[in-house]
Amino acid sequence: SRTTVGVVGGGPAGLLLARLLHQAGIDCVVLESRDRGYVEQRQRAGILEQGTVDALRACGAAERLDAEGLVHDGIELRWNRRGHRIDFPSLTGGRRVRVYAQTELVKDLIALRLADGAPLLFDARVTAVTGADTDRPVVHYTHQGAERSLHCDFVAGCDGFHGVVRTAIPAEELRTFERVYPYSWFGVLADVPPSCDELIYAHSPRGFALHSMRSPAVSRLYLQVPNGTDPAAWTDGQIWDELEARFAVDGGWRLARGPITQRAVLPLRSAVTEPMRWGRVLLAGDAAHIVPPTGAKGLNLAASDAVVLARALAQWAATGTTAALDAYSDARLQAVWRAEHFSWFMTTTLHSAPGQSPFDTRLQLSQLDRIAASPHAAAELAENYAGLPLV
Ligand code: FAD
Ligand code: DHB
Repeated sequence: SRTTVGVVGGGPAGLLLARLLHQAGIDCVVLESRDRGYVEQRQRAGILEQGTVDALRACGAAERLDAEGLVHDGIELRWNRRGHRIDFPSLTGGRRVRVYAQTELVKDLIALRLADGAPLLFDARVTAVTGADTDRPVVHYTHQGAERSLHCDFVAGCDGFHGVVRTAIPAEELRTFERVYPYSWFGVLADVPPSCDELIYAHSPRGFALHSMRSPAVSRLYLQVPNGTDPAAWTDGQIWDELEARFAVDGGWRLARGPITQRAVLPLRSAVTEPMRWGRVLLAGDAAHIVPPTGAKGLNLAASDAVVLARALAQWAATGTTAALDAYSDARLQAVWRAEHFSWFMTTTLHSAPGQSPFDTRLQLSQLDRIAASPHAAAELAENYAGLPLV
């Protein structure tokens, strides 16, 4: 079969790209290796930047997000048993963020695509892409026990960090930049109303902790743990005790406990692949770059890639010019490296590396004190967190 754009991967990047292409009148086929239930339940990110919300609204995908998403005007940082609030609108000229789970965003985009009657195949595993340097690249995949091929004008690799589309680019054309962190996140979902109105990022002598939420009735919490930690090795009580110790502040704040319904450990890593385009293959989202989750940038970068890529493909479809496609990689890499820096900054400022020296801890605390003391320092954090405008 044939299509204009073969979209590999039905995560946020692939689904949003497909929505934008559909609206621009460009046909595409989305191939997703997992089943629908799996991609709709996979517990991941929870924060949408202003720009991501704007993009979803502009393509008619924000109805439920506008009804159910929680608007957040700031975050709280905690260290030295004290809290300090960072106010986004006053520091960024009115930008704010939204708490809306990636699972819900993915459900919304899948429902819209199926309602449009547009092709989205689950259980369709891509095995290879050939002809990246020709005008007719081919996506090879297996579906319902059969080997199939999809002939395309362009192939969008939205297939995540372990994706295969990237391997269609000759190794000598690619550079990968990577950093692995000496700690992981233990994430839990709990049936208990959040103990805060806004997210809390805590630096503590016992390590980092984050209090987030999924709804007024469901909390999402994370603990820094050593790499290789087995999530089954902790009791619910141990998890709550550790969270309570890390969030502890002087004064009356209390952490409410409830049943833990999901738990998982995820390693922290930064990685960037350059370039994000080679021939007729384009990469978007985690397929090209991953960030440690501390800055909440992963999902937002994936969405921004999709917006810029859709615009470039629309220009090509309308006029035949590849100017915007030619500019895609450089434009996105500039934004990607900004997010890499911010995510690295948030991660290394808030976590305690194993064996970290007291000198390094003093530097972290000085940086946090600086953010509390100076609107300029706070604005630097706020602008990056709430999201920089798309270029
Ligand atoms: P993905 O969501 O990974 O989607 C890629 C899709 O491609 C998947 O559905 C996959 O099944 C499919 N696929 C892969 N290979 C193939 C193939 N060969 N053929 C067909 N389909 C294929 N970010 C945060 O900001 N906060 C968080 O707390 C957070 N937690 C995370 C936890 C985990 C475990 C992970 C992995 C990521 C987390 N992230 C988090 C990052 C964020 O979720 C990602 O940046 C975001 O999902 C990127 O979207 P994407 O569409 O590029 O990739
Ligand atoms: C969530 C995850 C993050 O990495 C983050 O920085 C904020 C919130 C979340 O899953 O809710």
